[in-house]
Amino acid sequence: MTHRVTLIPGDGIGPEITAATIHVLEATGIRFSWDQQAAGAEGMERRGEPLPDPAIESIRSTGVALKGPLATPVGPGHRSVNVALRMEFDLFANLRPVKTIIPGRCYEDIDLVMVRENTEGLYVGVEHFVAIGDDPRAVAESTAVVTRLGCERIVRYAFEYALEHGRKLVTLVHKANILKMASGLFLEAGRAVAREYEGRIGFNDRIVDNAAMQLVLHPQQFDVIVTTNMFGDILSDEMAGLVGGLGLAPGANIGPKTAIFEAVHGTAPDIAGRGLANPAAMMLSASLMLDYLDEHEAAERVQDAVIRSIRDDDVLTHDLGGEATTSEFADHVAKMVRG
Ligand code: NAI
Repeated sequence: MTHRVTLIPGDGIGPEITAATIHVLEATGIRFSWDQQAAGAEGMERRGEPLPDPAIESIRSTGVALKGPLATPVGPGHRSVNVALRMEFDLFANLRPVKTIIPGRCYEDIDLVMVRENTEGLYVGVEHFVAIGDDPRAVAESTAVVTRLGCERIVRYAFEYALEHGRKLVTLVHKANILKMASGLFLEAGRAVAREYEGRIGFNDRIVDNAAMQLVLHPQQFDVIVTTNMFGDILSDEMAGLVGGLGLAPGANIGPKTAIFEAVHGTAPDIAGRGLANPAAMMLSASLMLDYLDEHEAAERVQDAVIRSIRDDDVLTHDLGGEATTSEFADHVAKMVRG
């Protein structure tokens, strides 16, 4: 079987880490038909828009995309393509697993998964200024939009993920003591869903500030964390920090019919084009994609090869204190994947 996948190499280090990742995916022996599309700065250059229609149509038709990072201007300029893709394809679940790869750092044996709601909450962009006197921006108001259906589907996704991946506990993170409605509804809907899984998957909840502290003090008490958009955004970076930073943090954005896989990091313009980029996070994202495509054995092989290259064989890119170039790392991982 050949898997049709949309490929967006992206900007900055995107093309380098994408080439490295394709090299590893092809070493699995699985057949892919890549539909390569431009977006971000490359989309602007080639087609005058950051998210050209052919890229959207391709993702709609394949249902799966592997994506490099895209440059988003700060302040004025085009809207984030990543947010636009989330909305276009209703990519409601943002999945970010973090796992200890390099031993001897602050924490050992970390193996956590963040399931973040990706389309609601404070990030819906419902905000405005209120003028007072001659100050047009005297007050800023932002509205969090939280729906019962949105809460139920993300919590159900977390439980189904836990069941499928042999996880034991789902922790719902909220701030229902203060945000009695926006966070209260999330907790209420989440508790109702949790009852459906009683006896199969454990469930508890934590207030977000306590969760942030507990992640630093005793991260091993968590397994799968499910939370709303902004808390998930912040806590998932904290979790990436527990295992050595962005170079090792993969991600997936999953919707009812579509999924887009990408590393958590950005375009790293400071090192682009120099063979210094660490492609591990994108390779681990590709492993999540293999899992989604039901290629579980290959997913495991890619993940193992990345981990063993770093942990056992000491093949380290510059960000991890080594000398290996992007393509040297890819060659090593590909060789291990071939076995
Ligand atoms: P960044 O993640 O690109 O870089 C932060 C630091 O981490 C830099 O020093 C960079 O060299 C380093 N770094 C990141 N990935 C690395 C890798 N794979 N190997 C080695 N070092 C790595 O974040 P920054 O600088 O805030 O953003 C740069 C651009 O990326 C912006 O235009 C931003 O909008 C975009 N961005 C895109 C994302 C996406 O498309 N998913 C996500 C985050 C940022």
